[in-house]
Amino acid sequence: MASVELSGISKRWDPVVAVDDVSLTVPDGAFWVFLGPSGCGKTTLMRMVAGLEVPSAGMVRISDTDVTGLEPQERDVAMVFQSYSLYPQMSVFENIRFPLRARRVPRGEHDKRVRKAAELVELGGLLDRKPGELSGGQRQRVALARAIVRSPKVFLMDEPLSNLDARLRVSMRAQLKHLHETLGTTVIYVTHDQVEAMTLADRVVVMNAGRIEQIGSPREIYDDPRTTFVARFVGSPSMNLISGRIDEAQFRLGDIAVAVPGTADAGEATLGIRCEDLRLCDPSDAGIVGTVYASELIGDATLVTVVAEDHQVIAKVGKDTHVKSGERVGLETIGPRFLFDAATGGRVDSA
Ligand SMILES: Nc1ncnc2c1ncn2[C@@H]1O[C@H](COP(=O)(O)OP(=O)(O)O)[C@@H](O)[C@H]1O
Ligand SMILES: [Mg+2]
Repeated sequence: MASVELSGISKRWDPVVAVDDVSLTVPDGAFWVFLGPSGCGKTTLMRMVAGLEVPSAGMVRISDTDVTGLEPQERDVAMVFQSYSLYPQMSVFENIRFPLRARRVPRGEHDKRVRKAAELVELGGLLDRKPGELSGGQRQRVALARAIVRSPKVFLMDEPLSNLDARLRVSMRAQLKHLHETLGTTVIYVTHDQVEAMTLADRVVVMNAGRIEQIGSPREIYDDPRTTFVARFVGSPSMNLISGRIDEAQFRLGDIAVAVPGTADAGEATLGIRCEDLRLCDPSDAGIVGTVYASELIGDATLVTVVAEDHQVIAKVGKDTHVKSGERVGLETIGPRFLFDAATGGRVDSA
């Protein structure tokens, strides 16, 4: 097991800056998830940790050893990708064993190690099959077992579940979490899926255009987003964000008026409210009044989209709420209100 330290890591392919001066330390045994939209530099960052890409600047340390100049095979990390890249002509057993042969691990150890890795991902009964005879989820588990069999210091996983269907993704997610708790190996995991990040991570690193927006526990990222980018990216539906002005401890936009902390400076600002922190109320007592655009039952709740001052505001309310489109409704806030700088998107209220 090992910690992974990045200091001032950048990668440029002129004019693209794929990763821009990233510094952080993933502690020994932790499960960190890098979350961000497509193209924000997640894969590039991961490939620099693996040694598959040479940084334009900065240093990578694994267990306090500078590995920046080392080849991938000298770093003792195992990568699992979105594409499983199994050898189709080899059995599951041989596929899992492959890294042991490549690394000249004594033959006498192979059988035991392959079987143990296969057990951990519940592939024990399938060792004689060929990849072509497996489901997508089983193939992904072979790829995992092939990483596990080496007992690497660090697992690097790049969107490993994105080729699986939604139901399988949920069960593999739980399996990955369980596996991490069993093995205790440091994991760096990359995804654009915020639910995956929230459920798997000890710490989420939110990335935007090659830079770190915020690092925090899933709870911190959700409850205390430091920028509008994080607020928008995490949570489904994403946080309601309304651009307006602050005046005398009130956020205002046209007829919208929401009380905000008195410490907030006057001027332009963006107000953020999560959909579960809004409740329908009588329009005459409401800070936000608008007309219902749509009402959607999602199972355990109803999402009501209200148009107020040209903004669509979504409230997550009780599943037995019935409102019709075109109906005039009021919304009141029953939870935190976030304020962001109108220009930079940074948080300006002191949460
Ligand atoms: N080999 C390369 N040459 C030039 N640009 C690249 C190369 N690899 C990635 N990029 C660019 O770097 C940026 C980050 O890519 P990537 O790390 O793959 O993002 P992500 O994995 O978050 O989707 C993108 O703009 C991408 O087009
Ligand atoms: Mg990628």
